[in-house]
Amino acid sequence: MILAGGTGSRLHPLTRITNKHLLPIYDRPMVTYAVEAMVGAGVNEIMVVTGGTHAGEFFRLLGNGEEYGIERLLYAYQERPGGIAEALGLTERFVRGDKVLVMLADNIVERSLRPMVEAFAAQDRGARIVLSPVADPAHLRHLGVPELDEEGRLTRILEKPEDPPSQFAVTGLYFYDGDVFDVVSRLTPSGRGELEITDVNNWYVDQGTMELDVLEGFWGDAGESIDAYYQVNDFVRAHGANHRETSPR
Ligand code: G1P
Repeated sequence: MILAGGTGSRLHPLTRITNKHLLPIYDRPMVTYAVEAMVGAGVNEIMVVTGGTHAGEFFRLLGNGEEYGIERLLYAYQERPGGIAEALGLTERFVRGDKVLVMLADNIVERSLRPMVEAFAAQDRGARIVLSPVADPAHLRHLGVPELDEEGRLTRILEKPEDPPSQFAVTGLYFYDGDVFDVVSRLTPSGRGELEITDVNNWYVDQGTMELDVLEGFWGDAGESIDAYYQVNDFVRAHGANHRETSPR
């Protein structure tokens, strides 16, 4: 699932005239990087979840997906910005009990997702999150942050914590087994009125079935702020994204 919904309020007024995920990152629309990341990692059945007033533009851009190497491309429409977990719930009939990779389309990565996709394919059950080192606590306050014990095991994820418990961000890349739809159906909205993906993740943490990876190379959330948007643009312009090789650049 590629999530390309939301109101993009942090990028207003740019997002008054289009969907955030259609804004350019260097030389092409943002959402195409998520598509490329998935296809490059061997995931070629994709449901794009979008919403708002520019949903039709995704058809014009992605069409039936052949041009991007997608074998099966479906679309879902999220009626209101009800959160990442609510959007995930819309994919249930597409995923049909299979495993699912969720990628927020404003997340841009330098390296291939293939090692993580393979690790999750080999995982019996449960879920998997992907962390990226972030040193600045002010930045972490806008993200999900893992709390880790002395052995580096995940004990809890905090959403936008005042006092970040580690120097890692939870990126917008999530892997789930087929149980996730039951978990989503039992969630209640958070203070911001959304079904939170962090609540889904903490359910798996409580079950002891949440695994984690630490991403190598650059990671950016281009939707976080206008400065983050430009940082991601600068990085991609200089170094590209979704590189297949695993050696340092
Ligand atoms: C979401 C998640 C957050 C995660 C971030 C990554 O935040 O809730 O845990 O760190 O994506 O991009 P949002 O963009 O909805 O504020």
